[in-house]
Amino acid sequence: MSAAEVVAVAPAKINLCLGVGAPRPDGYHTLATVYQAIGVYDEVRVRPAEADTVTVTGDERLAVADVPTDASNIAVRAARLLAAHHGLAAAVAIHIVKGIPVAGGMAGGSADAAATLVACDALWGTRTPPEELAALAGRLGSDVPFALVGGTAVGAGHGELVTPVPTQGEYWWVVLESPAGLSTPAVYREIDRLRAGSGVPEPEVPAALLRALADGDPKVLGAALANDLQPAAFRLRPELERNLATGLAQAPLGALLSGSGPSCLFLCDGKPGAAQLAEALTERGLGPVSVAAGPVSGARVVSGRS
Ligand code: C5P
Repeated sequence: MSAAEVVAVAPAKINLCLGVGAPRPDGYHTLATVYQAIGVYDEVRVRPAEADTVTVTGDERLAVADVPTDASNIAVRAARLLAAHHGLAAAVAIHIVKGIPVAGGMAGGSADAAATLVACDALWGTRTPPEELAALAGRLGSDVPFALVGGTAVGAGHGELVTPVPTQGEYWWVVLESPAGLSTPAVYREIDRLRAGSGVPEPEVPAALLRALADGDPKVLGAALANDLQPAAFRLRPELERNLATGLAQAPLGALLSGSGPSCLFLCDGKPGAAQLAEALTERGLGPVSVAAGPVSGARVVSGRS
């Protein structure tokens, strides 16, 4: 690592509940969600350069080739936004090491944006106050502010307004990825189509879910998991419903689709239960399977300037 390189990591997010309201005039949907950051990470390395560049590597199972390597990459947009905020002309070479599934509903792009913000902030010594960084993050994407803070948090607005929630204990998740990604806008369009003509109530976070987190009770949490986008994702990819049912047959504490999918999540009774389910799902050959615990902290610099 050169002296001027800064390395940051940011975690994947899952939604423990995802209540989706009617579409707003700006095209976004009002959300009532609870995010949790889990121990699956992308790493972002930044160093000064003549012009912005981005390169991406990672496990070939993660569809790394689908990540854009031009100025449309959200990490490049994050660097540009922070530089503009401080009136800097600085450019950076960004290298992303993917650990989070691409287009998996786990906010991998948002993690890259959050990691880039904290890495560039350290590289340039700009010491951006947390509330300014959160506002910039919200302009980059709905999930980026949460990727900055991590932990467990309620998300409101279109997901960008995050408030940490009291949580006890550790939650063990099995993640079943899908060989092909799913487009978030396509899933939102499909839920609108399915709901056309019917009134959509304001979404709410279930009180039972917040109580389960405060009490550190994974069994109650498992029963409270909910995702309004599931019917839409199932319409677009029917095998996802079957995959969730296959995992549920092994009696985890609960299961749901991660965000807009296609990753499937299973909440398990501790690490041994998660390892057992992961083995059973791996044997079925439905897709890559991993185990991760949450909550974990948000984007942070792991080496380089502080
Ligand atoms: O904010 P982000 O860029 O991650 O959102 C991607 C797309 O997902 C949006 O362009 C929109 O189509 C959809 N979306 C939505 N309502 C939200 C969040 C995302 O309709 N609350």
